[in-house]
Amino acid sequence: MFVVGAVGNPYTLGSPVDAMHGLGDVRFFDRLAPLYDLAMPAADQSTLSAGLARATGSVDHLLDLGGGSGRATIAVEAPERTVLDISRPMLRRARTRQPNETGRRVGRASDGDPVGPLSTVQGDAGRMPLADDAVDAAMVVDAFHHMPDQQAVVEEAARAVRPGGVFVVREFDPSHPLGWLLVRAEHAIGMQSTFYKPNELADLLTEAGFDVSLLDAGFEYTVVGTVPAAAD
Ligand SMILES: C[S@@+](CC[C@H](N)C(=O)[O-])C[C@H]1O[C@@H](n2cnc3c(N)ncnc32)[C@H](O)[C@@H]1O
Repeated sequence: MFVVGAVGNPYTLGSPVDAMHGLGDVRFFDRLAPLYDLAMPAADQSTLSAGLARATGSVDHLLDLGGGSGRATIAVEAPERTVLDISRPMLRRARTRQPNETGRRVGRASDGDPVGPLSTVQGDAGRMPLADDAVDAAMVVDAFHHMPDQQAVVEEAARAVRPGGVFVVREFDPSHPLGWLLVRAEHAIGMQSTFYKPNELADLLTEAGFDVSLLDAGFEYTVVGTVPAAAD
């Protein structure tokens, strides 16, 4: 259960500039929001689903951190899906999603795939307005490198995900040739993004208490952290 409510609630944690890397990143996503889904391919449904499937027990409530327009959120199935993001324009876009939309671009409906509409919460993934053990799973897709306090994000995920639940992070590998280019491109347009290599991200999650595995590797890679089950 969320401690504070949806977008529009005046309770936001820190200013957007505090919670994102610099003005470049903040303005970029605020301005890009209307076009974001047109510019981006669909999220990798099978990889994200495989990561979430590593949870013990069902994933009834999924939290998508830095979930933006909900592009990745809609790619995966869960009865309750919440998008948390610092950018109001990106969240506004997420709220246009149809309940049964799959991981395709906005407006392209599916044939009866699940589930309810997306909930949205404006906030900083590094200071989440959530109770402990509030969700069954959390994920960050293509967004971790934009978050200024990445250790705080991982620690918050470890706190908010219940024992046996998972934290799935899909990111770009800066040591891959395309990743190398992406780093330079983002920095060239004024972003302050910070990219982790897969082993570095795995170490960060391990330090926060997750049991960690690497799901896939390449330009994009996926690290899955499982919250150890509580001791009897
Ligand atoms: C490249 S977009 C990715 C959006 C979505 N995850 C996807 O895959 O389409 C990065 C998102 O991270 C969000 N973001 C950056 N820093 C954040 C923070 N500290 N807390 C929450 N969201 C953040 C931005 O507002 C933006 O919507």
